[in-house]
Amino acid sequence: MIVVSDIESVLPSLREARSQGLTIGLVPTMGALHPGHVSLMRASREETGFVVVSIFVNPTQFGPAEDFDCYPRPLNADIKTCEANGVDLVFHPDAKAMYPPGFQTFVEVKSLQDVLCGASRPGHFRGVATVVLKLFNIIQPDVAYFGQKDAQQVRIIRRMVDDLNVPVRVRVCPTVREPDGLAISSRNQYLDEAQRTHARALFQGLEEVRERVLKGERDAQALREVLASRIAATPGAQLDYAAVVDADTLKPVRKLKGEVLVALAVKFGTTRLIDNLSLTV
Ligand code: PAF
Repeated sequence: MIVVSDIESVLPSLREARSQGLTIGLVPTMGALHPGHVSLMRASREETGFVVVSIFVNPTQFGPAEDFDCYPRPLNADIKTCEANGVDLVFHPDAKAMYPPGFQTFVEVKSLQDVLCGASRPGHFRGVATVVLKLFNIIQPDVAYFGQKDAQQVRIIRRMVDDLNVPVRVRVCPTVREPDGLAISSRNQYLDEAQRTHARALFQGLEEVRERVLKGERDAQALREVLASRIAATPGAQLDYAAVVDADTLKPVRKLKGEVLVALAVKFGTTRLIDNLSLTV
């Protein structure tokens, strides 16, 4: 496995892989790799010839009061995880390589970036879209792998790829969960024992929504209330949003029809967790 941190050193390996006719898979990450990331690496290992994992804690997607400084950066353990899962190349640039002095250009995916998580994290998706496009341009993958847990991120990246004719196939892999249903996230490690126990409320709320829909509920507001009251009854939990939106536009719906995304964000202390459920009605 090759491990590189500067952009120029990535290119020869990619050129070599392409000259051998291998397709290139990219798993973009911010490190602190967990079983969710591993599932993306495995999908790429199965489906592409040369697997690249990028590890970069991207400063432009963090707000001033967010956890950029304390975001976990266990680089050595991450490299071992990549090696154990058949990754061919780890790219871990530093901020100076990705945002050199004079950097001025950002990608904005209007309207999709401003709702749901974007409403409480202004600028977050501008940072995500910018760094992901940069990674796409540096690595030029055939396929890029993302997790369904970040459903809004996926929607925004797909929109960007379509709008800007980026020649990358976006593959979305299912959310990986703990045995009690909690979606696995690098931020789960911030939770104390009680918060960790109560954090399963997100999944339980979504499961209740799924059951109600299976029984015929089509009223979006009734489903938002299911989520809101579940979180209100959870000690230490504070609801950021509970949304039932069109999966394409991310705009709220009144009645469930077609592809719908049910999503919520909940804070436990300073830790913000997200989860979602994709439904076809
Ligand atoms: O999902 C993440 O970990 C990040 O948002 C991403 C896609 C690696 C961009 O920094």
